[in-house]
Amino acid sequence: MDSFLIQGGRPLCGDIEISGSKNAVLPILAATLLTREKCIIRRVPDLSDVHFMGKIIRSLGADFNYENGIVTIQAKRLKARGDYDLIRKMRGSICILGPLLARSGKASVSMPGGCVIGTRPIDLHLKGLKALAAEIHIRGGYVHAKAGRLQGAEVFLGGRVGPTVLGTANIMMAATLAEGVTVIESAACEPEITDLAHFLIAMGAKIEGAGSPRMVITGVDRLHGAEHEVIPDRIEAATYAMAAAATNGEVTLHHMRCDHLAAVLDKLKEAGVRMEARDTSLKILPGGEISTVDVSTQPYTGFPTDAQAQLMALMLKAAGLSIITERIFESRFMHANELARLGADIAIEGPSAIIRGGLPLSGAEVMASDLRASAALVIAGLMCPGSTQVNRIYHLDRGYEGMDKKLRSIGAKVKRVKER
Ligand code: EPU
Repeated sequence: MDSFLIQGGRPLCGDIEISGSKNAVLPILAATLLTREKCIIRRVPDLSDVHFMGKIIRSLGADFNYENGIVTIQAKRLKARGDYDLIRKMRGSICILGPLLARSGKASVSMPGGCVIGTRPIDLHLKGLKALAAEIHIRGGYVHAKAGRLQGAEVFLGGRVGPTVLGTANIMMAATLAEGVTVIESAACEPEITDLAHFLIAMGAKIEGAGSPRMVITGVDRLHGAEHEVIPDRIEAATYAMAAAATNGEVTLHHMRCDHLAAVLDKLKEAGVRMEARDTSLKILPGGEISTVDVSTQPYTGFPTDAQAQLMALMLKAAGLSIITERIFESRFMHANELARLGADIAIEGPSAIIRGGLPLSGAEVMASDLRASAALVIAGLMCPGSTQVNRIYHLDRGYEGMDKKLRSIGAKVKRVKER
């Protein structure tokens, strides 16, 4: 397994292009299965999760081709049963369930397991599909779903901690081909859901209210091929913004959407980070004295859980006590123990992490446990003096396009060390 070797303690300086959004593109790739016709998706990030989704789509009998950030997909014929081992390995692949069922009248996909950040149930996905008149059974590790034509219905998708992002995506996709009108109440409002809706509308779907908690989808008989450009990755942008602030650097992020990052930018300002935000670019400026924050993760438009770990790394710089409360996933603090190896003082109290910042840090060997935890370790490694080795960076390759190259382009000393 590859690792990153980071010589930290140097300010980052320069310009970075933000890539297309991982969490927008995965459901969009699944949505292409709703039509027999060819779809072209642009600005697709070169990530192992995207190539994995490509494998799943090919295993269902569709053509999938990735070249220079452009994916061409055509699903003339579709198998209704997904490869057990492939689907099981990537949680995001649950979003093929809705499109497969809507297109073929049946679908069998492996039940996704939990992961290091929490149990990650799919009860809301199944509740939504059942409301659209699907019969669902769980047998042999598979979710088996069957329906004649799906029937529009009113569905409340709010769960224990609020809306579900991929659950909303699944039900929205299924409802595009259902008979009649579907109303999703407590729908997720994330920009990735709005982007998916834009793609579905380009395919001929009738969707109103995307980006709000109430979506109305009027089913159509068929969808056609479409082209689409994926939105910029707001979490990648948040990560580089925090890396720049953590190293007291001067970095401009281009081709991004500041309106998708309102909660993050607000918190960074509160923490004293100096910045110039324009519509599609963000410049982080040096010289800000970083101060402590108290923040809770929330569904959009609140502070994203996917940027929580990175903020924790930044807060190691702020003298005093910061409190970060994780409200979306129950065990998303795996990075805290690893940050402690660098000298951090972090106590976990239930859903909150209490960070005593401003202590001296020094490089060490640390282990990445999931995508965003890995990003936090990289930020901490960049900011503390000495050499930090971040092991198991395959997690980063899942969700950050060419992270080592991008960091080197802004002056970071980061080397990818291949496993011998
Ligand atoms: N939940 C349920 N029942 C369900 C579905 C979800 O109780 O049927 C709960 C979850 O356990 C969690 C909460 O609802 O407590 C929110 O989960 P959600 O369904 O919104 O998460 P997701 O759709 O599976 C996506 C992103 C995650 C991101 C979350 C929250 C993709 C591929 N994944 O997951 O991204 O953290 O939304 O914003 O879009 C990441 O990129 O690192 C990542 C983990």
